[in-house]
Amino acid sequence: EKGGYEHFMLKEMYEQPKAITDTFSPRLKDGMIEIEELNMTEEEIKSIQKIMIVACGSAYHTGMTAKYVFEEMARIPVEVDVASEFRYRNPIITDNTLVMVISQSGETADTLAALREAKERGAKVLGVVNVVGSSIAREADGVMYTWAGPEIAVATTKAYSAQLIALYLLAMKMSQVRGTIDADQLTGMIEDLKSLPTQVEMLLENKKKIQKFANRYQAAEQIFFIGRGIDYAISQEGSLKLKEISYIHSEAYAAGELKHGTISLVEEGTLVVSVLTQEPLYKKMISNMEEVRTRGAFVMAVTVEGNLEAEKAADYVLYIPKTNEYFMNSLAIIPLQLFAYEIAVGRGCDVDKPRNLAKSVTVE
Ligand code: M6R
Repeated sequence: EKGGYEHFMLKEMYEQPKAITDTFSPRLKDGMIEIEELNMTEEEIKSIQKIMIVACGSAYHTGMTAKYVFEEMARIPVEVDVASEFRYRNPIITDNTLVMVISQSGETADTLAALREAKERGAKVLGVVNVVGSSIAREADGVMYTWAGPEIAVATTKAYSAQLIALYLLAMKMSQVRGTIDADQLTGMIEDLKSLPTQVEMLLENKKKIQKFANRYQAAEQIFFIGRGIDYAISQEGSLKLKEISYIHSEAYAAGELKHGTISLVEEGTLVVSVLTQEPLYKKMISNMEEVRTRGAFVMAVTVEGNLEAEKAADYVLYIPKTNEYFMNSLAIIPLQLFAYEIAVGRGCDVDKPRNLAKSVTVE
């Protein structure tokens, strides 16, 4: 059932191009975006004053990415919360608040409870869900399915990638309705979306190269991830992937925040994975990379082809191809997933079933 792959996680990583295609293609019609299941009129989309995204774990990380995308592209204010916090903080919800709950399983207890809480307070709730007919899918006012197919490995990969695509599509749709992007921009983004599956496929070919690199860090005691903006969101996902399957301690930091405390943990040889895919932030990131390097860190950069500046500030560089800046996470996550996977395999960990974790967290 693993289709010749050593682990479900590996198989599912290789299913990402398909998960991405299956999630966007049914929603592209004649150069426009149509999300039938959304269950919202154009008037309703125009009247949204605030979006609250609620999720756990990796789904929370896609929500963090979505915050940047929705705010910049659609100019709608977005709050993102982990479900177990949202439930107990007396959130301010008005008639014009859209609550989005994101969940692969559709059964996560805290996320489901947050959905119920939001509905009770009068919010319209949209679920971004992978499992068809799951509790969240049934109880939400509208559901946008991520068509990733069944995911077995505890560490999510293809469902995460499909969630990103669903969220980009929602942001594009809302931006189009609210008039914050023009027809040309939309066409360009659709073209870029269509290229993502092939680009992901290409990045998966780096497996051997990443394995070699990962071998050097199997005995690491701690690994840091840094980024800004969207790249901060993805750093958190890269760090979680690594922790959950390899048991190496890891933290992700907003790069500018490092010097407010965490940089004291950097020692000679500490690996700092730096993600820089947003051109306007390159310079700022490079100075953060230099900061840790002068403290002895080994800097691995994940950046966009052609960013030669990063080469000077890093000890090792992995390139991703160009795409729309909003979509960079879909590409940058691939080397980070492979890295976590190779480290975990090298350490002899049970990759598909890490200790203490369950695929679906149905207890609070
Ligand atoms: O099924 P869900 O998307 O609601 O699950 C949320 C988290 O439990 C999940 O993303 C978890 O963090 C993964 N193990 C991460 O790989």
